Amino acid sequence: MDCNQNNGPKLIVAIDGYSSSGKSTMARSFARRVGYKYVDTGAMYRAVTLYALRHDLGAGGKVDTDRLVDALPQIHVSFAPAGADGVSHCLLNGEDVERQIRELPVSEHVSPVAAIPQVRHFLVAEQQAMGREKGIVMDGRDIGTTVFPQAELKVFVNASPEVRAMRRYKEMIAKGEHPDYAEVVRNIRERDHIDSTRKESPLRQAPDAIRLDNDHMTLEQQEEWLCQRFGEALARAGEKKY
Ligand code: DC
Repeated sequence: MDCNQNNGPKLIVAIDGYSSSGKSTMARSFARRVGYKYVDTGAMYRAVTLYALRHDLGAGGKVDTDRLVDALPQIHVSFAPAGADGVSHCLLNGEDVERQIRELPVSEHVSPVAAIPQVRHFLVAEQQAMGREKGIVMDGRDIGTTVFPQAELKVFVNASPEVRAMRRYKEMIAKGEHPDYAEVVRNIRERDHIDSTRKESPLRQAPDAIRLDNDHMTLEQQEEWLCQRFGEALARAGEKKY
């Protein structure tokens, strides 16, 4: 099917998976191709974490849950339309924080923040509002299970920890950093553990999600694969007569 000629019903495409599985790159590029909105929900958890760090809502290097929960009504996370770099930057209370949310302090604190139930409820409500009009590709850890259990197309992306670590390692080298590969593997395994064992919305594959193991696939092959699954979902949705 030609994804560029998409005149069918608007769908919700939910893409979940492990960190550094390449899901965001695939989801962003696919959304552009089919003219859908793209939402990176990891950026939203990162923006809340940045707010907590900036407002000193922690002690001893840990974010204070009660103080962060009290501050939630003051936090507004949104996305600017894609700029020249093709990326839709994340805004925290209107300020472009796309660069800051990818830096180490946020990366180091985001997993425990994402495990706080009130933070999840707050952001899930925002994510559901963003998908009200459909025509959206959203990626994260709980999109097919919690945010949009009714999504017409659900994909669960995985690759081995070693392959994901190698991708992360190369990204860091490209940024001029000097990572230790064994340390990167350890970090990936630790994040997998936190993401999949937390009580609230742990990372798991929805029963009706299609699994994509992309260890040995190029980005082009993945996009082609997704395009075919999208065509099938469109056909199913057309049969349903919305
Ligand atoms: O995908 P990422 O690395 O930017 O995600 C940042 C953190 O947020 C990571 O610890 C997983 C968590 N997250 C989540 O719990 N639920 C989501 N829907 C998206 C991300």
